[in-house]
Amino acid sequence: MSAPPLLSEVRPVTRETASDLVRFMGQRGWYGNGRLGFCACMRWRLAAGDFHRSTAEGRRRALLDLVGDGVPVGVLAYVGGEPIGWCSVAPRPTYAALIRSRALPGTERAGVWSVVCFFVNGRFRGRGLTGRLLAAATAYAAAAGAAELEGFPVQPGPRSHTYMGAPSTFRDRGFVDATPAGCAHRVVRWRPLPAGAVPGPGLYSGRAPPPGQEP
Ligand SMILES: CC(C)(COP(=O)(O)OP(=O)(O)OC[C@H]1O[C@@H](n2cnc3c(N)ncnc32)[C@H](O)[C@@H]1OP(=O)(O)O)[C@@H](O)C(=O)NCCC(=O)NCCS
Repeated sequence: MSAPPLLSEVRPVTRETASDLVRFMGQRGWYGNGRLGFCACMRWRLAAGDFHRSTAEGRRRALLDLVGDGVPVGVLAYVGGEPIGWCSVAPRPTYAALIRSRALPGTERAGVWSVVCFFVNGRFRGRGLTGRLLAAATAYAAAAGAAELEGFPVQPGPRSHTYMGAPSTFRDRGFVDATPAGCAHRVVRWRPLPAGAVPGPGLYSGRAPPPGQEP
């Protein structure tokens, strides 16, 4: 793995940083993020029928409308002021397709946030940025009052949906396996530790990102 880039920061997408998300989705060319600009990370946010009826422009508008309404949608990583990485993290009820999905069985408990997508600009891949994004996403959700986070990692491979994150990325940040028996898709969870609790075997250990991995 090559040297990590000079990651200056990871910031939540808010009304103030919405223009950065527009810029990130609009990046074109070999290393650009056209695919993200096309689906606008609405695949899990729109019910399947609505997604198939929508247009690329409509999906981008819908994502930005959520931001304008103050709904959390994710975090962006920056290098030298340029957005170069994205992680979709948001309260589970805001993902209309995810909550209907039988393939990805999550939990209906209150306070669950879901991590459903990573996208890293091609120039910065292979340097562990998804881990930095996940650490920041976890900290963001916990600060916003999330009781629990869930993810649906996929073992990286040529034809896989690695955009949902690799199992190692979640494991290294304190997520634990919570795949229901018989479920083909991996499910992982993370909970903030109660104040004063000491991490130990069997406990969720992700109160804070591991040393050196802070956003
Ligand atoms: C998937 C993606 C986010 C990975 O970003 P990245 O910065 O290269 O990932 P990282 O460097 O953080 O690697 C995370 C882990 O995944 C593994 N990995 C990532 N991409 C891989 C690949 N193509 N093949 C094999 N392993 C891969 C890494 O080895 C690492 O595992 P490790 O920690 O056990 O070594 C990036 O390739 C991407 O944005 N792809 C496009 C996603 C896309 O098309 N999304 C469509 C929906 S919008």
